[in-house]
Amino acid sequence: MLTVAEAIRQRRSIRSFRPNPIPPEYILEMLEAAHLAPSGGNRQPWRFLVVTDLEEKRKLRQIAMEQEFVETAPVVFVCAADLKAYSRHASKLRFQEFVDFGVLETLSGRFADPKFREQYERRADIDRATLVRIAMANTYIAIEHLVLTATALGLGSCWIGAVDQSEEIRNFFNLPKSAIILALVPVGYPAKVPPPRPRIPLEEMLLRPLPFPSPEASTA
Ligand SMILES: Cc1cc2nc3c(=O)[nH]c(=O)nc-3n(C[C@H](O)[C@H](O)[C@H](O)COP(=O)(O)O)c2cc1C
Repeated sequence: MLTVAEAIRQRRSIRSFRPNPIPPEYILEMLEAAHLAPSGGNRQPWRFLVVTDLEEKRKLRQIAMEQEFVETAPVVFVCAADLKAYSRHASKLRFQEFVDFGVLETLSGRFADPKFREQYERRADIDRATLVRIAMANTYIAIEHLVLTATALGLGSCWIGAVDQSEEIRNFFNLPKSAIILALVPVGYPAKVPPPRPRIPLEEMLLRPLPFPSPEASTA
């Protein structure tokens, strides 16, 4: 398996796959990598559906603007965020973990104050748009863990964000209304590995110059 740094450098968006199936233990390894992602308040809103059935992949291809490799990949992960992860009940459970694992002691002292905590927990009433934004941000981290692990295992993958009719995916797979489909990730052994796509210059990425002399800017 590649190291994290190697996987980050070697990852490409792979859009053509060999038909060879992926060993189940590799799928489990990718899911485990997603499972271990960090999330605000440890809410873990990410949810995945592992799709190998041809008819189901055809449906996903159709929804994802007919991108062919969604159908030809041996496995497609449907990646979703579940807003139930932010329910009052989930909030209580996760907060108890903070207490049990000593996190509370290392958080701002305000959390030791039950009054502040009560107020904080009421944050669950924040509007849906904000909740969706938070759930999305956290789920994207887990998806990238999965993607990098695919690379580390010698597999190719590609983020597919073109799932505008996510409602259709939800209905097709009979998923709960609280699940928001964010992306598809087709995975398989690469048939073709493209050269790296360019990146903006480092200076453009930095909002101000580095506080130390930098080597020649790299765009690799
Ligand atoms: C959120 C997100 C959505 C994307 N959606 C698509 C997509 O629908 N179809 C596609 O072919 N590539 C998609 N991509 C892949 C990007 O085009 C690709 O990451 C980018 O061009 C850089 O190339 P690289 O991944 O090979 O480094 C998506 C990437 C991200 C992160």
